[in-house]
Amino acid sequence: MITKCLFPVAGYGTRFLPATKSQPKEMLPIVNKPLVQYGVEEALQAGLSDIGFVTGRGKRAIADHFDINYELEHQIQGTGKEVYLESIRKAIDECTFTYTRQSEMKGLGHAILTGKTMIGDQPFGVILADDLCCDDEDGVMGQMVKLYNQFRCSIVAIEEVPMEETSKYGIVEGENIKEGLYRVTNMVEKPKPEEAPSNLAVIGRYILTPDIFEILERTPPGANGEIQITDALLEQAKNGCVMAYKFRGKRFDCGSIDGYIDATNFCYENYYK
Ligand code: G1P
Repeated sequence: MITKCLFPVAGYGTRFLPATKSQPKEMLPIVNKPLVQYGVEEALQAGLSDIGFVTGRGKRAIADHFDINYELEHQIQGTGKEVYLESIRKAIDECTFTYTRQSEMKGLGHAILTGKTMIGDQPFGVILADDLCCDDEDGVMGQMVKLYNQFRCSIVAIEEVPMEETSKYGIVEGENIKEGLYRVTNMVEKPKPEEAPSNLAVIGRYILTPDIFEILERTPPGANGEIQITDALLEQAKNGCVMAYKFRGKRFDCGSIDGYIDATNFCYENYYK
């Protein structure tokens, strides 16, 4: 059973400056809830209640968010305002939270490797909170956990993107096993459109088997001079199996202003009103 989910949250969020100068980008609200809380709720919905944050300097607001604020609780106790805290209280009650710091920014692969001590020797989920995924049934991570129980190998969530955007993503090539499911044969991190093997882009949801750590330990820096999870996954795919899954639902790139606005409008219309 998968119970752990890793959240790499050490990144700077430069695209949202000055908003992210002194607050983590993961705490930016989509309507009235911070991005990272949507991610934690998706993990919890999938049964992943042990949450591990790979955090960094300037990210303390995340740890404070997933903790009780006694003064505030006391102030609003018994008033009509308590309802506003329901969702975060549920997350705090039902999850455990662990934190470790990534002291150097050496890429997503490095961030995941930093989480090794929190994960140990078991399969785990990874959620990149700035990819907001909305699915009213199982949640995207929930869909992936079901697949994991069937295939028992690493799984990446994918989405078709316009060919001119391949250089923003890890791109996979695979053998189509059934509708929406591929067995990965190749993976390239942020290829130029003319070098991309397809337009199937990895989005910020992964299930990884723990042998990924040993691979990451010896994965040299790749694209951008960073240790890439894409490169480690390609090794897993070549020596064993990695599945790429076209998820059901909507995904917003909240690391970009346009995606953030789209997510805000969507969540306002569908969940808030
Ligand atoms: C990371 C991964 C990339 C993936 C993307 C999804 O890139 O390296 O393979 O497609 O997340 O959001 P980043 O967005 O951190 O540059």
